[in-house]
Amino acid sequence: MADGQSTHPGATRARVAELTEQLAVAASHEARSRLARRDAAAFAARLERSLPDALDPLIRLYGAEHDVPALARRLVSTLLDAVGSRSDELLELDHRREIGPDWFLDQSMVGYVCYVDRFAGTLAGVRGRLDYLRELGVTYLHLMPLLASRDGPDDGGYAVTDYRAVDPRLGTMADLEELATALRNSRISLCLDVVVNHTASEHAWARRAAEGDETYRAYYRTFDSRALPDAYEASLPEVFPDTAPGNFTYAEELDAWVWTTFHDYQWDLDYSNPDVFAAMLAEMLHLANRGVEVLRLDAVPFTWKRLGTDCQNQPEAHWLLQAWRALVRIAAPAVIFKAEAIVPPGQLVQYLGAHVRQRAECELAYHNQLMVMGWSAVAARDVRLPTRALERMRPPPPGTGWVTYVRCHDDIGWAVDDADAAAVGLDGFAHRGFLNAFYAGEHPGSFARGERFQDDPATGDARISGTAAALAGITQALEAGDDTLLDQAIRRLLVLYAVCFGWGGLPLIYMGDELALGNEQSWRTDPAACGDNRWLHRPWMDWQAAARRHDVDAVEGRVHAGFRHLAAARRRTPALHGAARTRPLWTDDTGVLAWRRDHPRVGPMLGLANVADEDRSVDAGVLADVSLPAAVDALDGDAPVDVTGGRIPVARLSARWLVEG
Ligand code: GLC
Repeated sequence: MADGQSTHPGATRARVAELTEQLAVAASHEARSRLARRDAAAFAARLERSLPDALDPLIRLYGAEHDVPALARRLVSTLLDAVGSRSDELLELDHRREIGPDWFLDQSMVGYVCYVDRFAGTLAGVRGRLDYLRELGVTYLHLMPLLASRDGPDDGGYAVTDYRAVDPRLGTMADLEELATALRNSRISLCLDVVVNHTASEHAWARRAAEGDETYRAYYRTFDSRALPDAYEASLPEVFPDTAPGNFTYAEELDAWVWTTFHDYQWDLDYSNPDVFAAMLAEMLHLANRGVEVLRLDAVPFTWKRLGTDCQNQPEAHWLLQAWRALVRIAAPAVIFKAEAIVPPGQLVQYLGAHVRQRAECELAYHNQLMVMGWSAVAARDVRLPTRALERMRPPPPGTGWVTYVRCHDDIGWAVDDADAAAVGLDGFAHRGFLNAFYAGEHPGSFARGERFQDDPATGDARISGTAAALAGITQALEAGDDTLLDQAIRRLLVLYAVCFGWGGLPLIYMGDELALGNEQSWRTDPAACGDNRWLHRPWMDWQAAARRHDVDAVEGRVHAGFRHLAAARRRTPALHGAARTRPLWTDDTGVLAWRRDHPRVGPMLGLANVADEDRSVDAGVLADVSLPAAVDALDGDAPVDVTGGRIPVARLSARWLVEG
């Protein structure tokens, strides 16, 4: 393994400068011979600008054992091939994005996340549903894994057999390109997963390895004996302790143990091999050239392994991201990266490039902490832990932002930091236990209908599955036929989404939440899904329920109207532009989450969210603290704030976004 840290920074800088100069001259000649004049000039300019940002981490990663100049020449040639085959429309988009690089931080952005088959059958079907998305104000669409994946269990598509082919049940690459174009014409950016940590054991690379091809065997982490696997296991956690215990699988066809962090059919790639880095770059660019604008980099914390650690969040995992970031920017600058790093709060912002020195890494990352704290707040009817945990987080570096969300296709792991819990008088372990019991519906007074996922008696850990509507109490209220409970539960779901839409960052609607879809049960008898209760919250779209979305008396109508209202209010609220910083505030009511946003141009915003079941209020002095003497409520048609008796009322389970009048 290359030990980049021992390289003297001055020496690295000199090497980077020298290499960039050599490569830039050669590449600009070649670009001129292959590309139109303007495209060649743009390519050369980007190369000069961004290549050093790639070379620096590449030297750290590979400099000790590999020929980095040769690697860099290969990578530049991959970039040239990619830009040479990029369509005119995408080259135009590149240009537009370079002029407005913060497009994804705009307050008009609203994301939607769905499975192609479950939402609309096929890719062509998704095209037929664009009006539905437009009505919700959607500007960003994350289609869950849709590339070719293995037969049988495939971890919801995260066991890819071919990064260049679409799952034939959903359509073809041509359908994907057509959809990407249709989306772009509707100003909706397409986001797709790139599963970088592993391939399916049926991927061509893995098959070649199994056939004895040493080049491809070196793509994976294989071990002839248990000695090293056992040594690694000593400090490795298990992602799926119930269904896929251990991190290594004996693969008969390799006659070796192979690293399998997730399932036995997902073989971890070995990024200490620069060929793997280069191969994945080519796959990313291939997708970029199909019209994908946001690459969701799956499971990125796991890409580098180090003995004696949990093999997550290693410095090298960040260097890989930095190198890919810089290189993709040269060939496809319209494309941004989103990190799927579900890691403890202290490790998260690093995926946006916040290190001791800032490095361009991912533009977006899931705000897992906000999601967890939202659910903690509504279960406990108490915002002290969320306030404490969120105030301790470092802000995203300029030009980056969070994706905020309430639910996604994965389970909820209770990322509650023990020190944060202790600071507000809670025991972290006990609070995580409370949240599991609460959301599994086991706790007295629980409104939730979730299920435990990967319950691990050995560690006492568990996570939670269930749709937002099931977890927020809508299912329980409908079962009980209780209108008061139903009203409360709908408000609870919407208050969580009001935080998600009003915190700052790009909010994501997880398919079905806008219609309060309950838990899915069909997976229990599906051989490819049973055993993985995450399918509980991966429902099939219910288009009959969707047809009731304008019926003000129906649950679907009430919830859908709430979502449309949030999206419209957000669009009209420039203080929600992602360039502003968010900071939680302490108020004198433990049921009201408060946060301020300070936008350098359009002024501040004060967010208030009451997670309690009854009306509450906060001391109006907070308005002066955030410099909002004459505030109006953007969630209430810009009505002036009704301060009474020196207090700002916040109705039960509701939110306010206060901005300058
Ligand atoms: C990510 C995905 C999850 C999947 C895992 C392995 O965490 O969100 O669904 O199981 O990666 O690919």
